Amino acid sequence: MKTKSLVTVLLLGSMLLISQFSLAQLPKETEAHKAERLKWWTDSRFGMFIHWGLYALPARHEWVKNAERMTNEQYQKYFEVFNPDMWDPHEWAKMAKAAGMKYVVLTAKHHEGFCLFDSKFTDYKATNTPYGKDLIKEYVEAFRAEGLKVGFYYSLIDWHHPDYTIDSNHPLRQTSDSAYARLNKGRDMSKYREYIKNQVRELLTNYGEISIIWFDFSFPGKHGKSHDDWDSENLLKMARSLQPGIIVDDRLDLDNIEGGWDFTTPEQVQVSKWPEVNGKKVPWETCQTFSGSWGYYRDETSWKSPAQLLELLIESVSKGGNLLLNVGPTARGVFDYRAQDRLKAMGEWMKYNNRSIYGCTEAPAGFTAPANSLFTYNPVAKRLYIHLLAYPLGSLTLTNMADKVKYIQFLHDASEIRFSSGENASKNDLTLSLPMLKPPSEIPVLEVFLK
Ligand code: GLC
Repeated sequence: MKTKSLVTVLLLGSMLLISQFSLAQLPKETEAHKAERLKWWTDSRFGMFIHWGLYALPARHEWVKNAERMTNEQYQKYFEVFNPDMWDPHEWAKMAKAAGMKYVVLTAKHHEGFCLFDSKFTDYKATNTPYGKDLIKEYVEAFRAEGLKVGFYYSLIDWHHPDYTIDSNHPLRQTSDSAYARLNKGRDMSKYREYIKNQVRELLTNYGEISIIWFDFSFPGKHGKSHDDWDSENLLKMARSLQPGIIVDDRLDLDNIEGGWDFTTPEQVQVSKWPEVNGKKVPWETCQTFSGSWGYYRDETSWKSPAQLLELLIESVSKGGNLLLNVGPTARGVFDYRAQDRLKAMGEWMKYNNRSIYGCTEAPAGFTAPANSLFTYNPVAKRLYIHLLAYPLGSLTLTNMADKVKYIQFLHDASEIRFSSGENASKNDLTLSLPMLKPPSEIPVLEVFLK
């Protein structure tokens, strides 16, 4: 009896230890520590996403292999001619910097499975194409040289790897369980799990400091894939141990695991308010395209205007978030002329107005933005920024703010904006007198010095 209970105690004890150990797999950190680790990123607010791979050649969406249900053999022609002869990553980095972007995330591998880096674990990589060089190495060096923080997008999904099982998002997707079973015979996800670990280890070991890893994506459910398929917890644990400061997105299907993600990723949508999890505001970044497709899409015409794009950026900051704006370079290795055009316009605005973006966030409770305007707020400088989306006719009223305001100027030229109080219904309202002529700025910004 005694030995039995001793055994039970030992058994329970070791189970407890094991469970504590597996819980302790992801580093624990306090909210303050996490905020500190993410600070450079939340201060930056604006980054560049780059989707580049073989899909730049068909030039009709990065999901083309899936949409047209191509086999590996049918897709092979793109691999055989991939040769971005005009590629100059320094030029890309300069354009990102000039647009006001502070960090960059490039697809090291997208769903098609093609690797831009010289991985030891596959032949399906840039070094084996006519181009013949490790694009990731050149990318990392060029963007770093311009002072941008460098990140990788890594697709968990892989439509090329022989061990990756056919699922509902695969080009070879099926309609019956038996057809899936037939096609998946011999495919071994445990080998694929090793493959992604090996590749992520390469990416986070061979290229110096990597600031962001953007895993994409899980889709739990029947014929789907979830954290078990990727062994997400251990993958993430490895990533964090190789790059302790790294910032990680939320697509590993570890939503409910403490430390399982750093920021949430609303894609191609405008959020209605600062996203919350369990009633708490969380770090977030919206990723957006210029035109609908992530990869280069020659015939797409639905390009957003500079004003719309700036509004996306300002709106994100006004709700405490970041914008990751995507470029899909061509197969020659240059940015689409339409992307260049928009980046330039955004850079022109950012040059004079970036003070309302960097280090800014949602305005404190109690500040209500007038119609057709967006507030951002710098809590350190104690300045409020009013972005005039539609330029008013000579005056603007700020409700309930007279007791809070010290001084107001236009941000782009630091010219004084005169104001008076007490003229409106409430004594605490302020009436600003603005020039009738809209200043030569896509979205004029008022900088309000608070008391
Ligand atoms: C989606 C798409 C993918 C793109 C990503 C960017 O998950 O599958 O093509 O890379 O969104 O957020």
